[in-house]
Amino acid sequence: MKKIIVGNWKMNPSTLAEARQIFSEIKKLSKKFPKIDIVVCPPFVYLSDLKNKIDKASSLKLGAQDVFWDNPETGSRPFTGEISASMLRDAGVKYVILGHSERRAMGETSEEVNKKIKIALEAGLTPVICIGEKEHDIDGKFFETLKIQIKDTLNKIKKADLQKIIMAYEPIWAIGKSESESMKGEDLYQMAIFIRKILSEMFGQVEAFKTPIVYGGSVSPFNVKDIISQGHVDGILAGRASLESEKIAEIMDILAQI
Ligand code: PGA
Repeated sequence: MKKIIVGNWKMNPSTLAEARQIFSEIKKLSKKFPKIDIVVCPPFVYLSDLKNKIDKASSLKLGAQDVFWDNPETGSRPFTGEISASMLRDAGVKYVILGHSERRAMGETSEEVNKKIKIALEAGLTPVICIGEKEHDIDGKFFETLKIQIKDTLNKIKKADLQKIIMAYEPIWAIGKSESESMKGEDLYQMAIFIRKILSEMFGQVEAFKTPIVYGGSVSPFNVKDIISQGHVDGILAGRASLESEKIAEIMDILAQI
């Protein structure tokens, strides 16, 4: 499986000029490392502009940080402020992050994330579905929390569609921390196995093993080798590091050697 880097820019940078600058730097890197897929997910307002910088054959792709679950062409109600899957597709978007813990903390439920997955798949977008526990308690209650989250989030997703999604395991306690507080590769390995086990129960073993799993939570050049080689995941979802092209360059360099 090709390694993948998903960059979640969150509510950054503050200007289009800065967004163009960072994106251009990442584009240069993507040419240097064509075997690594890199998906940059900027805020909505920058998407249409950055689309012009993408060549079709490039390993650099555009992603969005959310999508709304209704389709304005067939939907029954208006939704002020929301963005539809067809709008994203028209803006050159190929991937969409769904169910990020920061959105779940604002009230988004697994049921809503589920509807968003379905609408994204219908539009031909690849959902990057975030799951993760708030705390890694020593008595292991987080396994059950995670299991429920995965089952509700992927409820009634078609077996054939599982290959069109990416699972992003992002333990909430490890997001936005220092690198040393991020999850260790060996613990991540255990979680990756657990996630595949749940996916196997839901969709069968063959499908479960074809689904890419990426890890997110304070990934940097400092810990990426451990995450990929000991964690046995297919890539990373980076927040802060994805806004610094030097860090992305180092990360790509390390991934290319694994
Ligand atoms: P971080 O963010 O890499 O800055 O911890 C990751 C995320 O929230 O997706």
